[in-house]
Amino acid sequence: MSGQTESGTDFQSVYDADSLAGFDPAQQLGAPGAYPYTRGVYPTMYTQRPWTMRQYAGFGTATESNARYKELIANGTMGLSVAFDLPTQMGYDSDADVSSGEVGKVGVAIDSIEDMRILFGGIDLGKVSTSMTINAPAAVLLLLYQLVAEEQGTPADKLTGTIQNDVLKEYIARGTYIFPPAPSLRLISDIFGYCKAEIPKWNTISISGYHMAEAGATPAEEIAFTLADGIAYVEAAIAAGLKVDDFAPRLSFFFVSRTTILEEVAKFRAARRIWAKIMKERFGAQNPKSMMLRFHTQTAGVQLTAQQPEVNMVRVAVQALAAALGGTQSLHTNSFDEAIALPTTKSARLALRTQQVIAFESDVCKTVDPFAGSFVVESLTDGVEAEAWKLIERVDELGGAVKAIEQGFQKNEIEQSAYQIAQQIDSAERVVVGVNRFTLEEEDHYDPLRLDPTIGEQQSARLAKLRANRDNDAVQAALAEIKRAARGSDNLLYPMKEALRLSATVGEVCDALREVWGVYEPNDAF
Ligand code: 3HC
Repeated sequence: MSGQTESGTDFQSVYDADSLAGFDPAQQLGAPGAYPYTRGVYPTMYTQRPWTMRQYAGFGTATESNARYKELIANGTMGLSVAFDLPTQMGYDSDADVSSGEVGKVGVAIDSIEDMRILFGGIDLGKVSTSMTINAPAAVLLLLYQLVAEEQGTPADKLTGTIQNDVLKEYIARGTYIFPPAPSLRLISDIFGYCKAEIPKWNTISISGYHMAEAGATPAEEIAFTLADGIAYVEAAIAAGLKVDDFAPRLSFFFVSRTTILEEVAKFRAARRIWAKIMKERFGAQNPKSMMLRFHTQTAGVQLTAQQPEVNMVRVAVQALAAALGGTQSLHTNSFDEAIALPTTKSARLALRTQQVIAFESDVCKTVDPFAGSFVVESLTDGVEAEAWKLIERVDELGGAVKAIEQGFQKNEIEQSAYQIAQQIDSAERVVVGVNRFTLEEEDHYDPLRLDPTIGEQQSARLAKLRANRDNDAVQAALAEIKRAARGSDNLLYPMKEALRLSATVGEVCDALREVWGVYEPNDAF
């Protein structure tokens, strides 16, 4: 009996030595912490230090999110991860017409240096690593973070953290893009150059497959399209004059973790092996750190159900286990109530506790890559690797990730996979407990977290006060300097930092760039 999984992989009911005919551990696996990193990026992995427990959080005003970060730190979280509201992610101020109804909703509203000061008030940025899920305006939020850290007394070269900064996947499957691909890639290369010079320990990009997976991508599509985006970023940075070993060690990645444990462990191991080969053979990287695929994982939000939400605690535990067995460097575990509303204090704490049980009560951290040599996982690793290479070659044939995006290739492939999954769920071929099997006549009532409906007004009033109390002539001159640099080739982050220091807002800086570059218009002709 064989069963279908996420990518329709047909499992053998029994795997044995014949399943691994010709398998050469030395060549195909390498030692942990050694090329091609199949077994993990560090020699000791979790035996030395567990993955970073990094809970994605942020909602409402900076004050409310600051309180949640302090709760998470008190509960043992090892790194911060900022969720921004949609206006911030799209480079609009809270008082812009287009922001109405979205301020503080899916993340925290950040308009200026004042909000960033509040967001990290009482948190020593020299002692914590912070991820920021921000893409098109990533440079703006990174600079606000640096300005606040410098005010706290932490120099930029001590800062650790990550900006997502991956606009290509926004064109494919999330939508928080602003500028067309060419200027977006220029700005991303400017960030690589700026961080190399000013913030050397900062991870400059988190090349993401998560959102494509959430949109329906299979495991092979998830890693193939993500690594193809990675290739495009490396090519753009090299074309901008950067040397591969000068920026590649600070590239990072972000994947999903589904309940299909065996397939997910194989996916992570294959992704490390593919990226190592791409960086060594295609780009001639010499520094081993340039070949290490370091990644963050988030448990699959799309697998959470609103029906019997407490069952999601089990799903998240299984998904988190898959990420740990697959060698993630950083992990976010979803809260069981997130299919209904924003996590409560209690559900956010339980999500973190799930990681702590796996790390400190199970024996998963006692040894590196425990599935190495497994008949089934090594077979699956080879299988998903082969499938992913075919897709990467297909993207190359189309002219690379950007041209493939403009032809709608990735989006089309993902939509077809999503349709197949939807059909399997509708037919109950793919079981979703509580939804198409083991359902309840009457669902229990759940009282979700409610947001203060006046957040938009509060932010608008604070913005009016900020603009009244700053040197507007100096701000306008700094914004003009950004436009000048955008028309030329100077690194944009220096004039952007000066404008933000003078209390220019996120929206004003992004509007200055919109004026020079225009905005991306998706070609939905496909
Ligand atoms: N041996 C030796 N060194 C080790 C080690 C070991 N076993 N374990 C850790 N270390 C070292 C590392 O080398 C590193 O030092 P360095 O920075 O000097 O190299 C340090 O300890 C920290 O370890 P990691 O870098 O492995 O862990 P981090 O947590 O700091 O970084 C990352 C992990 C993946 C590289 C980083 O990019 C990261 O944190 N990413 C997070 C991204 C994130 O949170 N995204 C959220 C997305 S949510 C979203 O998109 C929205 C929604 O729609 C889903």
